[in-house]
Amino acid sequence: MSPPRLEQSPRDPTFVQDPYPFYAQARAAGPLIWWADYEMAVATDHATVGALLRDRRFGREVPAAQRAPVPPHLQAFQTLEDHSMLEREPPAHTRLRGLVLRAFTSRRIAAMEGEITGLAAELVKGFPSGPFDLLSAFAEPLAVRIIARLMGVPDAMAPQLLGWSHAMVAMYQARRDRGIEEAANTAAADFTDYLRGLIAARRQAPGDDLLSELIAARDGADKLSEIEMIATAILLLNAGHEATVHSIGNGLKALLEHGAWAIPQDYRALTEEILRYDPPLHMFTRFAQEDVTVAGHHFEAGTQVGLLLAAAGRDGAVFEDPDRFDPNRERPAHVAFGAGIHFCVGAPLARSQITIGLGTLATCCPNLRLEEKPRFADRYHFHGLDALRVRA
Ligand code: HEM
Repeated sequence: MSPPRLEQSPRDPTFVQDPYPFYAQARAAGPLIWWADYEMAVATDHATVGALLRDRRFGREVPAAQRAPVPPHLQAFQTLEDHSMLEREPPAHTRLRGLVLRAFTSRRIAAMEGEITGLAAELVKGFPSGPFDLLSAFAEPLAVRIIARLMGVPDAMAPQLLGWSHAMVAMYQARRDRGIEEAANTAAADFTDYLRGLIAARRQAPGDDLLSELIAARDGADKLSEIEMIATAILLLNAGHEATVHSIGNGLKALLEHGAWAIPQDYRALTEEILRYDPPLHMFTRFAQEDVTVAGHHFEAGTQVGLLLAAAGRDGAVFEDPDRFDPNRERPAHVAFGAGIHFCVGAPLARSQITIGLGTLATCCPNLRLEEKPRFADRYHFHGLDALRVRA
């Protein structure tokens, strides 16, 4: 049975500004729809998205028989993907994730809370008296410097990290061309060289940082190879800020537009509501690893399926009055961090940054207000604002 067919260009500016009406239409059509523009079946509700994220018959890896040869202009980028836990399935994923979690411990993340509080307060002190962009003055430097400090990369590298990361994540957008591919590959090659040098320095003189811990991480006799360390460091540095920046931005937009600013609240619950209501990452995909039938639809081995994390967050079967932004909602069980074996490794760090960041802003800038109506950037692969012009 074919799922109901819906058309919606992911490049349509009206859709990019507000994709939720399309998601509502898709959920109403069924748990799976055929998204014509992607030529792909897509899961639309909380139960189906959650079930597919946990279903081991689906995985992120393209089945071997379908993999195309890697063109020379994408070698450096693909080498990193091949050694990244995010792109692997068991047993390679289990091994990589296990070794990384020996270094990226909850104790290390909890120890960053003081650093996050201090940096948030320092950034607020630098706010101008006139209008300014809160993303570039606060959310971006907070998220980039925290993940860089955690990793042991100097603060001064922050602008360079942003440049490499933006060039690499552009590969996941709907509109990918040769120029984007070449820029991503150059960024991947330069980033790799930089980390090779940093790893050599840390081997000589280990520090109290995640890179030194990754070098030291052992599971019996097993350890990360150099390219695995580089791919992991790049994955953590890139994943470690883009989504966090946009969660802070989307959350502030919702709070300011709903007149809910500086009302004392449980910032941990608020963080979960932001991630349910307007998450930064809307769709991930999986490949069927074998022939499998889900919700009456037959997936042949190798077929791709989309998982609409953001549509799941607005599912009325799970969340009461789902289109209402309710800062006091009791910690909604969203899937913005995924679920199953690829559940976001950085979720505790992201939660701390959003919670502490918003709490600091509310305390220090009780009169914060929008200077102009915020607009989402013209792209679907990352749901985040162009800028957030405010006055403190
Ligand atoms: C609000 C911020 C964030 C959001 C919404 C987010 C979301 C996600 C999602 C949905 C996945 C799963 C993808 C899939 O199943 O296909 C994921 C995986 C991952 N995230 Fe995050 N993330 C955030 C912040 C972070 C941070 C701060 C870090 C690192 C410090 C991080 C590192 C990772 C890694 C390494 C994975 C791959 C895990 C695996 O494959 O086993 N993320 N993230």
